[in-house]
Amino acid sequence: MGQERQPPRLPGDVGGAAAWRRDRLGVAVRAARECGEVWQLRRGVYVAATAGPCETVLRRTTYEYGTLPGTFRPAPRPDGSRPGPQERAHGHAARMRALRPKAVAERIGVIAPGTAQFAQEWPVGRDVDVLPRVQGALAAIGARYVFDADADALIGLAARLAEARERIIRSFPLPGWVPTSARRFLACQQAGFAEELRRVIARRRSTGRLGDDLLGQMLRPSSQYGQLPDAAIIDSLTGLIVATAETPTRAAGWILLTLARHPRAADRVASEAGALPTDPRTITGADFDALRYTQAVVREVLRLHPPNWLLARRAVEPTELAGYRVAPGTTVLVCPYTAHRDAREHPDPEVFRPERWLADPGSPVTPSVFLPFSLGPRSCEGSAMAMAELTLITAETARRYHLHEPPGPGPSHQVTTDGALVPAGLRLRATPRPNAPS
Ligand code: HEM
Repeated sequence: MGQERQPPRLPGDVGGAAAWRRDRLGVAVRAARECGEVWQLRRGVYVAATAGPCETVLRRTTYEYGTLPGTFRPAPRPDGSRPGPQERAHGHAARMRALRPKAVAERIGVIAPGTAQFAQEWPVGRDVDVLPRVQGALAAIGARYVFDADADALIGLAARLAEARERIIRSFPLPGWVPTSARRFLACQQAGFAEELRRVIARRRSTGRLGDDLLGQMLRPSSQYGQLPDAAIIDSLTGLIVATAETPTRAAGWILLTLARHPRAADRVASEAGALPTDPRTITGADFDALRYTQAVVREVLRLHPPNWLLARRAVEPTELAGYRVAPGTTVLVCPYTAHRDAREHPDPEVFRPERWLADPGSPVTPSVFLPFSLGPRSCEGSAMAMAELTLITAETARRYHLHEPPGPGPSHQVTTDGALVPAGLRLRATPRPNAPS
């Protein structure tokens, strides 16, 4: 086929492993510029840097490429059963009944009050540690969306699950069989959450009141697959409840920082948000759709700062990528960060320009590459919900306050890239806008 065997390695002046550890984003950007579509980080580890190869790998996931085992595996089931492909497909279909864009639009009144409350309760006139506040608000919104009236019973347990995941991510990656304290803590939190959720499921089934929330959708039998086993519901909600707050918190951090750095864009968001009903419980899908500029701001921030800036895959079949041969077992890291900053895809890629997303009104899919939620069979199930909560948090905050970075002397945040792209330790200060709603 005339394929070169391997993609180019990092050029010497870009730096080796040490440079990668010090400045992953810088190395990724320079390597994409100097090596082209696909480059080699080290033996057996390729990086897909531009739109074409990134999209190819993501779309071919589950047949040519597999995902890597996550750090957050479900606990073993009491009956020893393991999910097969049919159960996974059924679980996905059941979750998507509550997470597809139309379903999210219909339940936007469940999401909106928490976003307004987040903004109302912002402590003005002093520096605020932003990420923990956002995380608390998003966790409460997620719990309400997934468990509705049962959220109060589960939210504390969900917070401990999120903490357990943090501990796992921060701990040294020992082989899976080593019972580290982080793993024991996780197992304990998984068991506590599962026990309470089992009680909630049993009560809903025995009363026949399954609920209109995400859990209710999962409890309804499907015409294609029948009833999803309780163990499958518990496994998937143990992961999903953490996902409702974890990545959206990082994204919200970048968005709020962007509002502080781009006051003109913040003013435009504020003026658009002025049309929202004052009672957030009455906000509808149509009100959300009308926030076109705010949605464009969210998309533009996700383009520039995709929290999942590297997505890991492993080749399971011999295949080919951008003319290079990929042997089974090769790790391929898909890099939305560099794909999003390719001038052929987005003119002036380093410039924050929300208007670029307005050229194509009403369409959720634009011609330019947009990978913050991944693509293909393992893409984000919660993208519509994330867009709804991030857009409303942005609108509700900007309509009430001007945000500022603290005057110094230190920076407002540290950019961290291990695991995810995070404005770690972000601190911002809010001053009320004149005539802002209370
Ligand atoms: C800004 C917010 C979010 C971003 C940027 C994001 C990003 C992503 C990405 C990139 C993936 C795929 C990872 C990969 O391909 O390896 C993913 C998977 C997933 N996300 Fe999200 N996510 C967000 C919010 C959410 C929310 C709110 C939920 C839940 C309601 C959610 C649920 C999930 C689930 C269940 C998966 C796994 C899908 C699978 O493995 O098949 N995410 N997310």
